[in-house]
Amino acid sequence: SLNAKDKAAVKAIWAKVSGQKDDIGTDAVGRMLTVYPQTKTYFSHWKDHSPTSPAVKKHGVTVMAGVAEAVSKIDDLKGGLSGLSELHAFTLRVDPANFKILSHCILVVMALMFPDEFTPEVHVAMDKFLAAVSLALAEKYR
Ligand code: HEM
Repeated sequence: SLNAKDKAAVKAIWAKVSGQKDDIGTDAVGRMLTVYPQTKTYFSHWKDHSPTSPAVKKHGVTVMAGVAEAVSKIDDLKGGLSGLSELHAFTLRVDPANFKILSHCILVVMALMFPDEFTPEVHVAMDKFLAAVSLALAEKYR
């Protein structure tokens, strides 16, 4: 789980990148749908799944608002994200395997957009953080 050093590293990198979180989210969701096309099944109500579509942009903004909330609740992710977990589990029925896929896409985009800041220490801290967020989102599935 996340130790004090990881939490400090996540908060520090988030302070640097959060101003561009909407762009990170849009590119990450666009890549998820392109590279892992099976994820499109959850968004079958959209007209356009291409990386530049308005629906992708809107959902990128939505997802990163969730990540911002997770950073603010980093000391209690399971409690802080319980409502979001219920939504994904019971209403949306998203297979939790997809959380790992989106987390990977977020990491790739952060590395591309912030190559100098994305040190191995930041990489491991963000990887652990997104895994903890994914675990918290999967909490209500059973
Ligand atoms: C909706 C966050 C992963 C599918 C949402 C919402 C948030 C969110 C904040 C809006 C909730 C609301 O309206 O109250 C996240 C976070 C994720 C994640 C932080 C992981 C880091 C995923 C994955 C999928 C997914 C992997 C499917 C591949 C959806 C769908 C909606 C949704 C279908 C409803 C969107 C709509 O129809 O407008 N998510 N999500 N989510 N999420 Fe996620």
